[in-house]
Amino acid sequence: MNLEFIDIPKIKNPKGNIAVLEGEVVPFEIKRVYYLFDVPSGARRGGHAHKNLMQILIAVSGSFDVILKDGRTTHKVTLNRPDRGLLIRNNIWREMESFSAGAVGLVLASDVYEESDYIRTFKEYLAHVK
Ligand code: TYD
Repeated sequence: MNLEFIDIPKIKNPKGNIAVLEGEVVPFEIKRVYYLFDVPSGARRGGHAHKNLMQILIAVSGSFDVILKDGRTTHKVTLNRPDRGLLIRNNIWREMESFSAGAVGLVLASDVYEESDYIRTFKEYLAHVK
């Protein structure tokens, strides 16, 4: 599995920067935006895959670790920059951990929420991707 990072274009200004996600920077049509916040220290999130959904995950504040598995290899990355997105394609298992205090994880998603798109156990995931 290749880790796919997105360098989010920035409008730099000594009075504060702006990061913009538009056009071909995002390889899918954004149908939903949500964010994770107030994550207690020690909490682990994720622990699922999506059959069809693609997402871009951004640590817009603070940091957290993302573990990605494709059934053969495992990667662990720390997200800690508001101008860097991690593209998570469909059929990739993801877990999130080690959230810093005040961390905010922004997610851009290619579709609306649909529970039937989730694969919620790793056993089921392995059977799905094999
Ligand atoms: P889930 O995606 O499992 O969270 P995480 O991967 O961050 O641990 O979602 C947690 C709960 O929230 C689950 O019951 C589904 C619900 N949910 C929605 O209703 N709509 C949404 O857009 C999202 C992301 C979750």
